Amino acid sequence: MSPQKIIIDTDPGQDDAVAILLALASPEELEVLAITTVAGNVPLDLTSKNARIICELAGRTDIPVHAGCDAPIARKLITAEHVHGKTGLDGPTLPDPVMPLSDGHSVDVLIDTLRAHDAGTVTLCTLGPLTNVAVALDRAPDIAGRIKQIVMMGGAYFEVGNITPTAEFNIYVDPEAAKIVFASGVPIVVLPLDVTHKALVTAERNDAFRALGTPAGIAVAEMTDFFERFDKEKYGSNGAPLHDPCVIAWLLEPDLFSGREINVEIETGSELTLGMTVADWWRVTDRKANALFIKDVDADGFFTLLTERLSRY
Ligand code: BDR
Ligand code: CA
Repeated sequence: MSPQKIIIDTDPGQDDAVAILLALASPEELEVLAITTVAGNVPLDLTSKNARIICELAGRTDIPVHAGCDAPIARKLITAEHVHGKTGLDGPTLPDPVMPLSDGHSVDVLIDTLRAHDAGTVTLCTLGPLTNVAVALDRAPDIAGRIKQIVMMGGAYFEVGNITPTAEFNIYVDPEAAKIVFASGVPIVVLPLDVTHKALVTAERNDAFRALGTPAGIAVAEMTDFFERFDKEKYGSNGAPLHDPCVIAWLLEPDLFSGREINVEIETGSELTLGMTVADWWRVTDRKANALFIKDVDADGFFTLLTERLSRY
């Protein structure tokens, strides 16, 4: 079978970085057409730089990296240096990228790429705020029918929120964008905090990355060393949650995950619950299902997959 074509829309971020490494290590299953960056964890200039640092770490300077929206549709940008550090990739010491950004704004690249490929053949993997995708859908409504699916890290139901008591970071940063995406009619798979908080890098799992002894394995271990202090302090958890790699792992081995087809709406009006993913998990409304909302992951299977793929570098 030929590999699935994907575009990774991202705001690296250590966990975004691991997701990119996982995708680029899986060429038999995934063909990465482009990486499009967005402002989120850190401002756009840094997410665009970090995406290229990771492509170089992966030895994949052939992957086009395009910069996109530098702010949410209707709000001021909120960033997460308190989690990811000043650079967004704090932890390892990695060289500044030599590869340039590719020409073309992320929004144009999304539109052009979707129009250039057969309808239903390109999957969008979104690892950050949904600004680029929403602006593309707004500007070129015809692409909605061309996207195979959007597989996103975002939202929460049982875990509720990580940036406010009721909102997950990626949705909270640009709730208007999330609203557009969830109303688009495009098939959506959601990897919310409910599942990503189960993909925890325990000391043992991080030792397995480090033991690979390669620049990529050591960098992932060092990123996790940095990233985990936040979650350990905040949640008293056993290690850092690898949020964004769950998106790529779902594409590679969907059987590791389970969830339900449900309706998800985005709160954009309330100050108190702004950015909440109102997920009808218990199907108490008759609102039409618009997403496959994942709840569980086989964490050991996930880390076996990830470690094996990282060992390919
Ligand atoms: C999400 O927010 C960012 O901090 C992570 O990269 C992830 O995409 C988790 O809420
Ligand atoms: Ca991210």
